[in-house]
Amino acid sequence: MASSNLRPTLSELGAKVKELSETLERLLKESEVEAPTLASDSPVNISKFTPEIFTTKQKLQDAMNDLSIISQGPSESVFNYAHNAVPDMAALNILNRFNFWEAVPLDGSASVQSIAQQVNLPEEAVQRVIEHATTIRYFAYADPAHPSTSPIQHTSRSAALARLPGLRALVSGCIENVGPSMLVMPEALEKFSLGKKDLPTDVSETAFKLAHSGGEVFGDYKNSWELLENDGVGEKKGWRQRTFIEWMAYLKDIFGTVDLLLGATDWEKEGSAHVVDIGGSGGHDAFALASAHPSLTITVQDLHECGPIFTSQVPATLASRVTFREHNFFNPQPVSADIYLLKMILHDWPDAQAIKIVQQLRPALRPGAKILFMDYMGKQGEIDPGLPRSITQFGTSTDLRMMALFNARERSLEAWKGIVERADERFEIVRVDANPLTYMVVMEVVWRGE
Ligand SMILES: C[S@@+](CC[C@H](N)C(=O)[O-])C[C@H]1O[C@@H](n2cnc3c(N)ncnc32)[C@H](O)[C@@H]1O
Repeated sequence: MASSNLRPTLSELGAKVKELSETLERLLKESEVEAPTLASDSPVNISKFTPEIFTTKQKLQDAMNDLSIISQGPSESVFNYAHNAVPDMAALNILNRFNFWEAVPLDGSASVQSIAQQVNLPEEAVQRVIEHATTIRYFAYADPAHPSTSPIQHTSRSAALARLPGLRALVSGCIENVGPSMLVMPEALEKFSLGKKDLPTDVSETAFKLAHSGGEVFGDYKNSWELLENDGVGEKKGWRQRTFIEWMAYLKDIFGTVDLLLGATDWEKEGSAHVVDIGGSGGHDAFALASAHPSLTITVQDLHECGPIFTSQVPATLASRVTFREHNFFNPQPVSADIYLLKMILHDWPDAQAIKIVQQLRPALRPGAKILFMDYMGKQGEIDPGLPRSITQFGTSTDLRMMALFNARERSLEAWKGIVERADERFEIVRVDANPLTYMVVMEVVWRGE
């Protein structure tokens, strides 16, 4: 439950943290889940995500955050955050960009000199970044009494990054790709919104556009997709899209969205349907769906740079049924199919563009064709006011990211329905599944036009 008690004592919060920690430990034991530690041989995650484990974890997070604030003191907690937040982010971004993770063996240690050689940076930079990183538990000194000469070893956090390319892609996506835009949000608000009643809805009046309007470092790009597709020269071109594809595939693992996709409709009943996965990235969802349902045929549509990744990743056993076709979803849909997937597509766009993406399906739709929407649901607190704040924070973080990149926003359930209804009255919403704990909404829509 979100706590409304604004006067807890230190010891009350300490007791709450203890109680919730014990509950979490018990739940993990009951589910036969190995509990994580800070050491490099820790499991990389909490491998089973029952709703009870999840909410207990998030309630514990809330209690620890409150304890952290009042144990530091309110102004000190602000000072400490303001002082550390950006350096923490910069350190993680550097470690990740230069892949320090793989420069240290998982079951041993490496000297600063050998890490510097491996990542091809000056020893001084490596030493200083690692020194900061150890304070937030990325890497540790094997000999903590002599940090300046000590070899470096992994902690559980840095080891998770060494083991999971998808987690590295997530860090790159959230910090390296979006960080510059988010840091100029005040300038964007000043330039485009100051003194106005409403936020702009034009995708060219964004913080992203300010951060990427020329210059050697961040280039000149209209929107984030153009950056992802075009940044880099020669073989490096499209490196950001390749990383993004890895991030999307990893999200599927951490949120269990495969189950969401497999449960989005009764796929067995759909028989040998032709499915189009619009904005289907490198095909990760299509591969999972086609493996589970051998009668389906799937066309994955996305931007140019996704094609080569799709080709290199499509399993040979699926190649005859799952194919890639480059398509810009702002153009009329060229493929007449039985089912269209729009998974985590529309939340990237303001209402006008989201509505246009849906409308562009119409030329291809046969009567009774189905559209399955799967997307983030913001404002989960309106559905369940008792939701832990740390769950709400996940949605609000994505919401601000969308504001910075696209002048878009996370939508409530009602706003999601509104997008479909405003696109065309012949779209009938026949089923809605919205679970605030999964952050996701699924809508099944049927085309009632001719
Ligand atoms: C948030 S990702 C979602 C990917 C995938 N559907 C999933 O759920 O993992 C959005 C996708 O939209 C694609 N995209 C962006 N603009 C596009 C456009 N104009 N036409 C087609 N695809 C586009 C991106 O390349 C990216 O793969």
